[in-house]
Amino acid sequence: MRELCVIAGDGIGREVLPPAVAVLQKVLPELHLREAEAGWDCFQRHGTSVPEATFEALRQCGAGLFGAVSSPSHKVEGYRSAILQLRQRLGLYLNLRPVRSLPVVSHHPGVDLLILRENSEGMYSGREHWESDGVAIAERVISRAACERLALAAARIAHGRKARRITLVHKANVLSLTCGLFRDTCRDTLTTEGWSNVLDERLVDVAALQLVECPEGFDMIVTSNLFGDILSDLACHWGGGLGLAPSLNLGDGLALAEPVHGSAPDIVGSGRANPLAAILSAALLLRHHWQDEANARRIERAVEAFLREEGHVDHGVETTRVVGEGVLQRL
Ligand code: NAI
Ligand code: MG
Repeated sequence: MRELCVIAGDGIGREVLPPAVAVLQKVLPELHLREAEAGWDCFQRHGTSVPEATFEALRQCGAGLFGAVSSPSHKVEGYRSAILQLRQRLGLYLNLRPVRSLPVVSHHPGVDLLILRENSEGMYSGREHWESDGVAIAERVISRAACERLALAAARIAHGRKARRITLVHKANVLSLTCGLFRDTCRDTLTTEGWSNVLDERLVDVAALQLVECPEGFDMIVTSNLFGDILSDLACHWGGGLGLAPSLNLGDGLALAEPVHGSAPDIVGSGRANPLAAILSAALLLRHHWQDEANARRIERAVEAFLREEGHVDHGVETTRVVGEGVLQRL
């Protein structure tokens, strides 16, 4: 029996997860659900943004669907971002962020790219401190072991995808130690795995420009944590924007799907939240964790059919309901 840990979190996370869960239940009628808490609201009630019970539930289920959480933009004593804790403590070392042209909402034809973002270290290592009054330091951690496992996962995914190009994105001309280690380790590992003929590299600033100018030129992008975070938000514009951008956190035997967007406090409670990012994230869980390509495609085809037939995703205050039901009907 397959089990899914459902963590709705804060804000629109609670609005977009029910339609995504409904879609998963339609393609997997036997799916067993287990709800768990995380986020800012949870922190205010329990003094922790991820209770131990949530880590335990995710470990036991092996698969999770996460909505979104809110984080204060100032330091709050005792608070740490829920999603960063989940990624780091559960060893979810890889974040997959595909961007594809979709009917109607896409602004550019021919885009079908996949960003592989290192998820466990880099600028999000959590090591920040005051060096002196007025000088704050953040440590960027890059380890050979983390780069190796990232590149090995990239090789595995490249195989499934029949990758035509793998672009390593870094800034080794300035960050010669950290980005140099990242670039060299990924390049060596992917070469050993037989991918040298499609291997390519770009400095992150040039990659950003080319993702705007010629997104269809990219296939797979392998990069570090912060660069992947920023480039994937930029690239998702071509797939219809944040309301349609899915992602999947992957570890060994464990996966947590989540839309790229956050808790969207500006539209929470309005009915305007687009559930497609969450629904497409559920499809990634099927493809990359449960190895169920048929049902992953079934969901993606239902989303494409909905977009083609409706022509838009803006149904005003009825958006969450109309889009969710529209996809469900087309499954
Ligand atoms: P956001 O992604 O929540 O919203 C950015 C913009 O996109 C807003 O105008 C929002 O209305 C719109 N948007 C996002 N998702 C949408 C959807 N499904 N349908 C329609 N419109 C959508 O990012 P923002 O505003 O920077 O952050 C808000 C909160 O979310 C913050 O507390 C932040 O820390 C948190 N956050 C959490 C993330 C996570 O849980 N993984 C990721 C990013 C931000
Ligand atoms: Mg982001």
